[in-house]
Amino acid sequence: MAKFQSPTGMHDLLGEDLEYFRKIENVCRDIADFYGFQRIETPILEETELFEKGTGFTTDIVQKQMFSFRTRGGDFLTLRPEGTPGIVRSYIQQGMQNLPKPVKFWYFGPFFRYERPQAQRFRQFYQFGFESLGVEKPVIDAQIIKIFYNILKELGFKDLTIELNSIGDSECRPEYKRILVKYLRSHQSNLCPDCRRRLRENPLRILDCKRERCQIIAGAAPQMIDRLCKECHNHFKSVLEFLEELELPYQLNPYLVRGLDYYTKTVFEIFPGSLKDDKKSSQEIDKTALVGGGRYDDLVKLLRGKDTPACGAAAGVERIVYLMKLKGRKMPSPKLPQVFLAQVGELPKRKSLKIFEEFRINKIKVAEAFHKDSLISQLRMADGLAVKFVLILGQKEALEEKIIIREMKTGKQKIIPIKNVIKEVKRRLKKD
Ligand code: HAM
Repeated sequence: MAKFQSPTGMHDLLGEDLEYFRKIENVCRDIADFYGFQRIETPILEETELFEKGTGFTTDIVQKQMFSFRTRGGDFLTLRPEGTPGIVRSYIQQGMQNLPKPVKFWYFGPFFRYERPQAQRFRQFYQFGFESLGVEKPVIDAQIIKIFYNILKELGFKDLTIELNSIGDSECRPEYKRILVKYLRSHQSNLCPDCRRRLRENPLRILDCKRERCQIIAGAAPQMIDRLCKECHNHFKSVLEFLEELELPYQLNPYLVRGLDYYTKTVFEIFPGSLKDDKKSSQEIDKTALVGGGRYDDLVKLLRGKDTPACGAAAGVERIVYLMKLKGRKMPSPKLPQVFLAQVGELPKRKSLKIFEEFRINKIKVAEAFHKDSLISQLRMADGLAVKFVLILGQKEALEEKIIIREMKTGKQKIIPIKNVIKEVKRRLKKD
């Protein structure tokens, strides 16, 4: 019979990978503390309607990628495909609209999208995200970008590119959409089938279609950036000034619209620099963003809260880990024990369990093999672990409340009272 496998696009996380995860989470935590973002964990499941309304009914995520089901009680729930709608729901539900603004959150956890399995796209993947709610000022946009840039820098990324655009707001976007649709209609027959559908539902998305023939059409399309209303124009200009002040390497990309419906004004993505030392495997990943985000001034209201501007972004953890490995970034290996506690006989085994706990309380890492009875095989293990000292508790020693301490390198050994063992080990470890 075939063995059970983890579901397609979902992977076990263990060993070295988890060390990378831990490192990334620690960097996020430090940066979040500095910038005053609090941690938030919202449920993995939310009402399906939250994403339909929030992420947007016409998006690929809602149309094709959600894991949704009906509970036994008849509720329609969805495994969260992204974090922002859940955080906005919590912000409204927990009465945070009355708190001093901005209210700032960060998160790190699993997300789920029914993707076609391909390189660096998973059905369960991890994101970390930062969201700032309540302030409409452009300095917030710049600070969110800077936070993600800092995190990636801290993780050892060197040549990052920030792509940036403004997609306007409810004042200027409808007029732009009309102009764009008029232009795209005249090229309708050359668009791919997906874009023909988008033309009706979400024409802006045609601008970032990856198919060549659509890109050619998009390349000559009127651009939002030339049609921003005064407010959006000034906002964007100000964001750029802040980025320049912070010396962040950004590029304007008029075709960047992002795949989620809630964005207004600033949108951005951060890409890794190309990895010249590793051609083939990095080509695909070079083209996919590590971070995506932007402003979403209408989302809180859309989800039945007060009118509240907001801005945020999220990054894909697996992609970051993949690139850190490619770049040869090693994680420090876990600290190895320098002491092995060996025991022979029933009474010694019982006593060693207690001695072992004493070491834990004193924060001294000790290896053991309580499941073994033979001294020879325990010493062999100690040898394999290359510990400095072995403590040996035999029947005679146990009866006399003593223990043998043997230095592995020289074979020299000494019998000491059990009650002094912690002190003696501490002294010897310090000496080395
Ligand atoms: P997103 O662009 O859909 O934005 O996802 C952000 C990042 O998550 C991507 O740049 C990518 O690195 C990673 N990612 C997305 N899908 C997958 C996948 N299937 N497998 C592996 N990694 C993936 C959002 O999710 C928004 N909530 C970001 C945001 C926060 N905007 C405002 N606030």
